[in-house]
Order: sequence, then structure tokens, then C-alpha cells
Amino acid sequence: MSTVRIVRDAQNEAQVHPHGATLTSWKVDNQELSFVSKNAVYDGKKAIRGGIPIVFPNFGPWDLGPQHGFARTSLWKVAKEPTVESGSAVAAFELEDSEQTRAMWNNRFKLTYTVIVGDHQMETNLDIKNTGDTSFDFTTLLHTYFRVEDVTKTTVDGLKGCKVFDKVHKETRTEDRDLVKISSETDAVYETTSQVHHITGGPNGKTFTVTKKNLPDTVVWNPWAEKAKAMSDFGDDEYPYMICVEAGHVASRCKLDPQQTYSCGQTISIKD
Ligand code: BG6
Repeated sequence: MSTVRIVRDAQNEAQVHPHGATLTSWKVDNQELSFVSKNAVYDGKKAIRGGIPIVFPNFGPWDLGPQHGFARTSLWKVAKEPTVESGSAVAAFELEDSEQTRAMWNNRFKLTYTVIVGDHQMETNLDIKNTGDTSFDFTTLLHTYFRVEDVTKTTVDGLKGCKVFDKVHKETRTEDRDLVKISSETDAVYETTSQVHHITGGPNGKTFTVTKKNLPDTVVWNPWAEKAKAMSDFGDDEYPYMICVEAGHVASRCKLDPQQTYSCGQTISIKD
């Protein structure tokens, strides 16, 4: 299984691993912006620890299958080889139901994941089609790991006033901070957040801007020291250098009728 390189030009490139169609690199001006653990496992079984794993059809623990669903641990097909068109490099990946997925979750579907690398920006779009003749519901999320210089100095906006379920302290509250900063284990599911988030403190002090499409919620996660030690595929000393800001449809389930498609995604840009 080789990684697919999506090269726009010498300054802008992304890479996607067919295992989970996991984006494993996004480089702008020779700077890696995506965080992937040095201990990430590429065995075609475990989800890749970092980049952008795709969560579908279930966010979090799931009675029917693995945590965060099977999309991130399935082998996707390359549906469109990387091509440069209209100033962007585009590639697409597909996953359809199989005997293995139907054994867990008995529904027919087709996922199309399109990665578009532009100038200092990247789009990751997911189309979820119900190809069967009965309705189904799901949750989904783009589990984006951002590389940062020092997570204690990073800020995330667009969360103020939102209802948040704090999975660490198991409590629901309303976010009162304009800029969310983290300084301990964080696992927070924010509902109906701003369409745009700015994440400061990226590589070389740059700021990421995330613009969501049909992904109403946002999860903010950092395992911190103790959890990091407990994770075999994550270095003990790596947690200061990443933050997950995950655009998703997770606070409520999304229903899809036969032959309908749900289109969602995000655009991430980087600037000084
Ligand atoms: C986050 C969840 O999205 O993903 C956390 O909110 C979870 O609860 C984290 O720990 C990582 O999950 P996993 O399955 O990749 O270890």
C-alpha cells in the first residue's frame, strides 16, 4: 500500500494513505503542518495515529464495531488519481460497504473523500451516499491532528457560548471563553460551533483557519502526559506538539434516506 502524493507545486503537497484514506502529511513551503506520531502504526489494521483519520459511521465507542467506526481502518480505493486542475491538485478515494462492514453495520453506502490541495490551503470533503433501499443514521467527523509549537500557547476560537460535554470530567457546561486554551487532558465535544475556527501557534507561529461545511460540531482533544503514556502508538513526549480540532456531525445523528447523499467537509488554510 503506497501513499498517494497530491502535489500542487513545489510549495504545496499532501499525502493520503489508502488505509482509512488517512491524510498523513500536508506540507506548505516545506513545512509539515499535520501531526503524525512517530509511533504511528501502518499495519493495515490499526488506525493511523495522526493526520486526518475519517470517523464513520460512529463517533466514539460503538456497540456494533470499533471506536470511531470502520472507515479509518478500512482499505479505500483511489477513485481519482492526483490531477492538477484549475490551480489545485485533486485526488479522490472511495469506500463502499462490504461483507465485513455489513457484518457490523448492515447498510449499503458509498463514501467519496476528495482532497484538494490549493495555495496555502487544503480542502477535505466527504460525500456519504446511502446506496441501499432503507434509511440509516450515522455520526461522522474529520479527526484532524494539527501540528503546533507548544499546545499550552495555542488558542482555538469559535467555541464561546456553545454547549460542551467535557468527556474528561463527565460534565456538560457552556463555554465562556473567547479563546480556548488547554493546559491539561482535554476531550471536549462542542455542539453547534462557529463555522470558522482559528487555531494559533502552528509551526513558525502560523495560524490555521478551519472552515466547516455541514459539520456543525467540534471536538477538541489532547491526551496530555498520562494518557499519552498509555497509548502504544503515541510518543510519551509528543502531546505538547499537537492539538486535535475535529469538525464533525456528532452531537446528533444524521439520517440519510435511500439514494441520498450527505456532503460535508472542511477547508484548512495557513497564514502568518
Ligand atoms: C477523540 C475522542 O475524538 O478521539 C476521544 O473524543 C478519543 O475520546 C480520541 O480518546 C482518540 O481516539 P482513538 O480511538 O483514536 O484513540
